Amino acid sequence: MELYLPDLAAMSAYGQRIAAKLRAGDVVALSGTLGTGKTTLCRAILAALGHGGEVPSPTFTIIETYDHLRPPVIHADFYRLEDPSEVANLGLDEYREGAVLLAEWPDNAGGFAHEPACLAIHLESAEEGRKAIVTGGADWLERMP
Ligand SMILES: Nc1ncnc2c1ncn2[C@@H]1O[C@H](COP(=O)(O)OP(=O)(O)OP(=O)(O)O)[C@@H](O)[C@H]1O
Ligand SMILES: [Mg+2]
Repeated sequence: MELYLPDLAAMSAYGQRIAAKLRAGDVVALSGTLGTGKTTLCRAILAALGHGGEVPSPTFTIIETYDHLRPPVIHADFYRLEDPSEVANLGLDEYREGAVLLAEWPDNAGGFAHEPACLAIHLESAEEGRKAIVTGGADWLERMP
């Protein structure tokens, strides 16, 4: 599925639609080159779930947790991982228990598209704004946002 996201308002609206469908155990895998809007969409999802504070880009911390939300959210940015094997050291599986994972640069962590609960969103620059190529795993087919 392809979506056109012409501006920040469209990102915010799309984030709201995703947030309304999220369940614990889901992964939203956000790929796309530098500056294509991955963090922007994560912020929109977190805001729609009721997070009122800041959303630092986890480029340096790799993982940020939002335990106060329902479902709880883990926001990860795997840009700095040099090898997917480093994911084990982060304790990602433990963090993910009962939570939703929002993952930037998912391929650096080995990718999540094989998981039935993965919503894969690939962002690209468009003439104005962004284009999103969206693929849902089996668990998403009845609830594509
Ligand atoms: N749909 C859109 N239309 C226009 N500008 C956008 C859109 N989405 C995001 N932007 C802008 O693009 C810039 C980069 O966004 P963002 O930081 O979210 O990208 P990113 O993919 O997370 O980058 P990185 O690869 O560095 O993590 C920001 O200035 C943001 O406001
Ligand atoms: Mg980012």
